[in-house]
Amino acid sequence: MRVAAVAFGYVCMIGSAFAEGDPEYGQYLSSECVTCHQSAVAGTIPSLAGMSEDGFISLMKLYRSKKLENPTMQTVAMRLSDEDIAALAAYFSALKPPD
Ligand code: HEC
Repeated sequence: MRVAAVAFGYVCMIGSAFAEGDPEYGQYLSSECVTCHQSAVAGTIPSLAGMSEDGFISLMKLYRSKKLENPTMQTVAMRLSDEDIAALAAYFSALKPPD
């Protein structure tokens, strides 16, 4: 079910969001993120699936410029270019949010 939903989101996205961030590249980059962000069973780490692209991009830039405090995310964001962040935004925004 989940796989089907992801595949569906992916297909929808190719027409709309491709010009901004490359979701395939985003998926590649996301392998690092999901070690933390998909094990958020207790709800302490927010899920990234289904986040709006704009919201995601502004949060990542706030971490990168250290305007948001979390040291883990600052380190993660520091290594990402604008293109990387756009690609991740395209990828995560197309995923089905958790129930
Ligand atoms: C080592 C664990 C870890 C890794 C790896 C990690 N994150 Fe995070 N991330 C966190 C934690 C913990 C928070 C919550 C910070 C807080 O509440 O202040 C967070 C918060 C976020 C937020 C803000 C979410 C919100 O709703 O406020 C975004 C966006 C995000 N991470 C994106 C990413 C991306 C993209 C990657 C991969 C490039 C990544 N993270 C990798 C632990 C991690």
